[in-house]
Amino acid sequence: MNKKFIIGNLKMYGSIPFYQNLFQNIINLIQNDPLKEVEAALCLPYPYLYLAKELFESTNIAWGTQNIAKDNEGPFTGEVSAQMIKEFGSSYSIIGHSERNTAYCESNKNIAQKFMRIKDYQMCPILCVGETLIEREAGMEKNVVQSQLQELINCGHEIFDNSIIAYEPVWAIGSDMSASPEQAQSMCSFIKEFLTSEELLLANTKKNENKTLKVIYGGSVNEKNALQLLTLDDVDGALIGRCSLDAEKFIKICRSAHQI
Ligand code: PGA
Repeated sequence: MNKKFIIGNLKMYGSIPFYQNLFQNIINLIQNDPLKEVEAALCLPYPYLYLAKELFESTNIAWGTQNIAKDNEGPFTGEVSAQMIKEFGSSYSIIGHSERNTAYCESNKNIAQKFMRIKDYQMCPILCVGETLIEREAGMEKNVVQSQLQELINCGHEIFDNSIIAYEPVWAIGSDMSASPEQAQSMCSFIKEFLTSEELLLANTKKNENKTLKVIYGGSVNEKNALQLLTLDDVDGALIGRCSLDAEKFIKICRSAHQI
């Protein structure tokens, strides 16, 4: 059985004392059982990467960011490059989160460029896709997700190696209205089938034998519903927002993944 991926998205929360406390609490909670059967990571605001590097380096917890520049370097005021986050030991970067797409008008093309930058530095992109409530009510959810993936597909054949796609329906994020197990399974399975049919993945990915692409679910995952969602055949893990701010809840979710 492949390991499940539990990724925290800390958004724009916290402070130095908050992160010292959160990281130390996580370390204490996994001291006697170091989560060997789970790939756990926290995606942080940039200023706290150094703390993760300091405190998590000898643990099984990885870390990363919630965005990245599409360019390598240059006169891009306010941007942070993939190379810079790699220097702080990052293994992951979230891209295309709907909160960024709405607030900063990110285009699919920009997101595809960011995806490639992350891969250039041997880190793992976590590409968020998902439909709005209006789109779901109109029965368009699969078309929407497919078109979000299409821009990436146009970039080249093997780019989905060592990558994570997070299905995050916009209506489920921060709302206490998680997708139902049926909705989560159906979309995660659709994403794998679509990429397989485009010959962008080895055919055996669908059978969960390919270790290189994971499709995870995000949106109101908590310590109560995690086990049910993580047990689904095509859900390879979870992207956790609010519950990653609380060490106990985050580790409880990791333990649910561990017990599958
Ligand atoms: P949530 O956020 O778990 O608080 O719903 C998920 C996300 O935005 O990735």
